[in-house]
Amino acid sequence: MATLDLDSVVKSFDQTTILHGINLAIRDGEFVVFVGPSGCGKSTLLRVIAGLESPSSGDIRIDGRQVNSVSAAHRGCAMVFQSYALYPHMTVYDNMAFGLENMGIASAQIATKVNGAAKLLRLEELLQRKPTQLSGGQRQRVAIGRAIVREPKVFLFDEPLSNLDAELRVSMRAEIRDLHARLKATMVYVTHDQVEAMTMADKIVVLRAGRIEQVGAPLDLYNKPANTFVAGFIGSPRMNFLPASILPHDAATARAVPLPEGTHTLGLRPEHVQLDSEGLISMRVSQVEQLGSTSLLHGMVGDDMAFEMVCNGQTPVARGDSVRLALPLEHLHCFDKEGLRL
Ligand SMILES: Nc1ncnc2c1ncn2[C@@H]1O[C@H](COP(=O)(O)OP(=O)(O)OP(=O)(O)O)[C@@H](O)[C@H]1O
Ligand SMILES: [Mg+2]
Repeated sequence: MATLDLDSVVKSFDQTTILHGINLAIRDGEFVVFVGPSGCGKSTLLRVIAGLESPSSGDIRIDGRQVNSVSAAHRGCAMVFQSYALYPHMTVYDNMAFGLENMGIASAQIATKVNGAAKLLRLEELLQRKPTQLSGGQRQRVAIGRAIVREPKVFLFDEPLSNLDAELRVSMRAEIRDLHARLKATMVYVTHDQVEAMTMADKIVVLRAGRIEQVGAPLDLYNKPANTFVAGFIGSPRMNFLPASILPHDAATARAVPLPEGTHTLGLRPEHVQLDSEGLISMRVSQVEQLGSTSLLHGMVGDDMAFEMVCNGQTPVARGDSVRLALPLEHLHCFDKEGLRL
């Protein structure tokens, strides 16, 4: 187990800078998720931590010790890849044992470690199979097992579940969280799926174009997104954005809505909008999704502002209706001209 600190980490490939000075402190035993759109630098950052890429500048410290010049094999990180990267000609047992054999560990000790990991991951019955004889979820567990037997200081996961079907993803999510609780290890997990980030992380790091946009606990990011990017990225369905001018804010009128000075954009999550015949704005409904427990209304506010809301239960509202909406003030997010939270 270990702390992990990144200090002004910059990574450039030729003339292109991919990571622009990343500062981050990860506590011992923390489960940290890097999330962000494709190409924002998540894998690059993970590879720099693992020692598979060296930073162009800045420091990486594990347990307080600078590891910039320590090779990947000696850094104490174990990485689990999206592609599993299992050896097809080897059994499950040998796939997990291989790295330890290379390190010159005695075979009795290897057997103890591999059997221990197999038990933890419910792979005991499968140790003599080859990877082609396994399901996707089982293969993924072998890849995780291979990391566990090395007893790393830090586990690094790069989108380990994205090749699995939706149902298996949900159960593997829970398994990895459970594994984290039992091993109490420091884990860094990369995904572009904000639901995965919300459900798994102690701490989420939102990245965009090689910069950290915000770091915080899942609900802190949901409740207090630092800017419109994080606000739009975290939460599903996505937050609605409207210009502040949509609300009456002339203090002379009784219906004026008090907004912070400089409010340019309003954000409101679909689950916080309410149908209200006295509501301040009107939406033309273009699509109704009845999901049983909730209903999703899609429509337009004004001429061209797409808007979504979630209603509890089933709704009598139909496509083509016009409805009035209340925007509860306590749930209104206000952003300035630059998109920063006010
Ligand atoms: N070896 C390399 N040489 C040059 N450019 C690279 C190299 N590796 C990555 N990049 C570039 O760095 C940027 C970030 O890539 P990275 O793989 O870190 O993104 P990502 O956030 O993991 O995306 P995804 O969600 O698609 O996996 C991309 O624009 C990519 O093209
Ligand atoms: Mg990636």
